[in-house]
Amino acid sequence: MIPVFSLLNTIYLKKRPFFLNHKINIKCDCHCKICDTWRIEEKPDKLLSNSEIKSMLTRAASLGTYGYWCWGGEPLLREDTPDILAHSHKLGIFNMLSTNCSKLKDRYDELLPYTDIFSVSMDGIGRTHDKTRGYPGLFDKVVEGIEILRRNKGRVRIFYVVNSMNADEIEDAVKLAKELKVSINAYPIMRFAGWNEELMLDREKEREIFSKLLSLQKQGYPVVTVRKYLKIIRDGKQTKCLFPRYFVYVDWDGEIYNCSCGRLMNPLGNIRNIDLEKLYESEDYKRKVKELEQCNRCRTPAGELGGAGSLFRQFPERYFYHLKHEKIHLLK
Ligand SMILES: C[S@@+](CC[C@H](N)C(=O)[O-])C[C@H]1O[C@@H](n2cnc3c(N)ncnc32)[C@H](O)[C@@H]1O
Ligand code: SF4
Ligand code: SF4
Repeated sequence: MIPVFSLLNTIYLKKRPFFLNHKINIKCDCHCKICDTWRIEEKPDKLLSNSEIKSMLTRAASLGTYGYWCWGGEPLLREDTPDILAHSHKLGIFNMLSTNCSKLKDRYDELLPYTDIFSVSMDGIGRTHDKTRGYPGLFDKVVEGIEILRRNKGRVRIFYVVNSMNADEIEDAVKLAKELKVSINAYPIMRFAGWNEELMLDREKEREIFSKLLSLQKQGYPVVTVRKYLKIIRDGKQTKCLFPRYFVYVDWDGEIYNCSCGRLMNPLGNIRNIDLEKLYESEDYKRKVKELEQCNRCRTPAGELGGAGSLFRQFPERYFYHLKHEKIHLLK
């Protein structure tokens, strides 16, 4: 089927998630202040194996999954990440890979052929980034990694988690993204209870920073965060969350959740013993997707989907922004 029809079929006729979010591992070499994933121990017997992940991807593709968002932990610390992305690519899936860039220079050439977009984390300029990530020298690695990818025609988007440590550097980060010829997606930090509360922005600061982002976007800087979402955050409004409608999230140990804030939810089961189609068709699953529309526990770009009302309304904006700033089509 032509990709666009297949995508519409998945989303609107079958009403199934079109993106599979997957933590390919949980191991991490940073000591981030925004995220406490690095504190979790990866147990080899629990980690999904190469063949289990490939079977999951094959099944997901047969159900019309359009995209695979591979993250972690730090996915570049897993030896077979390129092999898994190659499998997904062969199935015709659009691959997005998140990385902190610690190993990007060493491994980019293994990943480049199978990665449709690199989502690169940058949480401030220079020492702010290094401090936020607890990794001296990481900012330089991020910039170097982006330059290498761009020289090799890789598509790159910076993910900037706005928090009290880096809020005042947002304009510099947006200008740097333009210099590096990549786009930037900026969104507010999600609260991890007991870990990052002191990094939340207060209402006034949030209004100031998201107004600035709107203005930079209007001036033509490569801010690809959806405009309507930027306005919702600026104004402190509620979002309608359609994340569970569009995404399914599989954790490193195979536990399946409706959203990437898995820790806030109960798992729906484990990919090792549940068939995805049966799960999607179950009344319980459909009911949860509907219920979670009202969930406002986080305001990551997950809420962006709901905030913007519908994928359709967002589509022209997203498509033309990506076309302009990343120079590549959204659909293959
Ligand atoms: C969990 S990381 C995994 C991939 C890789 N280790 C990295 O840092 O890019 C995926 C994305 O989540 C973002 N993230 C981490 N903690 C967050 C938080 N508290 N709120 C919002 N986004 C967060 C990261 O900045 C990164 O872009
Ligand atoms: S944001 Fe990425 S690099 Fe930082 S602790 Fe979480 S998984 Fe590790
Ligand atoms: S708002 Fe709720 S359902 Fe939506 S992504 Fe956040 S935690 Fe998940």
